[in-house]
Order: sequence, then C-alpha cells, then structure tokens
Amino acid sequence: MDKVLVATTNRGKLREFRHIFSRYGIEIISLEDMKEKITVEEDRETFLENAIKKAKIYGDFYKIPVITEDAGLEVEALGGYPGVYSARFYSIDFGGKEEVKDNKDVANINKLLRLLKNEKNRKARFVSVVVFYSPEISGIWTEGYCYGSITEKPEGDKGFGYDPVFIPEGYKKTMAQLEIDEKNRISHRGKAVRKLIEILSRLSFEI
Ligand code: IMP
Repeated sequence: MDKVLVATTNRGKLREFRHIFSRYGIEIISLEDMKEKITVEEDRETFLENAIKKAKIYGDFYKIPVITEDAGLEVEALGGYPGVYSARFYSIDFGGKEEVKDNKDVANINKLLRLLKNEKNRKARFVSVVVFYSPEISGIWTEGYCYGSITEKPEGDKGFGYDPVFIPEGYKKTMAQLEIDEKNRISHRGKAVRKLIEILSRLSFEI
C-alpha cells in the first residue's frame, strides 16, 4: 500500500496522521486532494458507528483504501459529554448553547469551562476510533484512549480542539503545550493508529 485517503477535513488531525505515517513511507492524501467532493454527516450515536459510516461511504465512492477517525473528549463529571458531540458541543442543547465569537474550538472550550466551574472532579479522557477500509479486506477498527484532566483555563497554542484545556496524566503541561511527536506518542490518536499499523503489517499489507 503506498497511498491512503485519510478522510477528514480537520487540519489538526491530518497533520498528526501525516506525522505518524511519515516513517512508514505511505503517502497520505486528504479530502482536499479529491476533485469530486462529497460530504458525510456524522449523525450516529457512537464513535465507531460514525467512523464506519464515513469509511464505507468515502471508500466506496473514491475506490481507494481509506482511513477514517471519529474522536472526542469524554468528561466524567458531565456523564461522558461532549463525547460524539465534541466538534459541535457549543451548539447542542446539553448545558445551553454557546455563542461562536472567535471560532468553534474556542466556543467549545468556553462551554466546557463554564459547565465545569466549581466542579472538583475534572477527570476526562480523549477517545479515538480509527477505521481502515479497503475493497481487498472488508475493514479493521482500533481504538485509543488518553486519560487526563481539564484545567481551569486554556494554556498553549499547539494542537487543536480541546488540547489547551487537557492535561494528560503524569504531565504538568496541557496537550497544546506539547510538540507534535510527544502528543502523538501519548495521544488517543497515536495509540489507535499504531495499533492499526500493527494489524495491517500482520496481514502483510506491506506497511
Ligand atoms: P470529529 O472530527 O468528529 O472526530 O471531531 C473530533 C472533535 O473532538 C474535534 O473537533 C475536537 O473538538 C475534539 N478532539 C478530537 N481529538 C482531539 C485532540 O487530539 N485534541 C483536541 N481535541 C480533539
């Protein structure tokens, strides 16, 4: 396999996928490289269902091996929210809607910190579910977790999404203060993708 479509429009995610795959000599193409555009709504109730839905639709349409990911943040004191709603947390009824002033990531973080104001239990985890789909094999999925806690205020400008308010277990810095190789080493995404690579190499996918 020399080329795989990582079917996402999230530039932060794509950068991390490219960084992980760079050592395997596999070219990552993205939805931005595809001439014909299609969009897939992430409207399922679990990360896995969303990732499988995206993999099937993009894989069958573009007819190349495809990797999709559905990821998010689960906060213990919020009963697992934002979860599958992580990307659009600001806009859902749970906890009241948040106005988007700068960008969606900032609105999501503002809502999260508002809901956790005066909350002592700040435990959270990032979840990543990755699906590989190709016509030659039906499909493979893996998952990865990164446990940590939510800060009182944002710190750092690397990464994306909730990184500025998430401190991984054993660290004193937020995820947004870590270099990309360090984030990938401990992140939910890094763990899920490395598991996938291991399975693909066992199946002689020449990775
Ligand atoms: P998805 O594109 O539906 O998988 O949405 C993922 C959302 O979860 C992103 O928009 C972020 O808000 C959040 N998220 C997932 N992974 C990360 C991460 O590694 N760092 C920070 N936020 C993340």
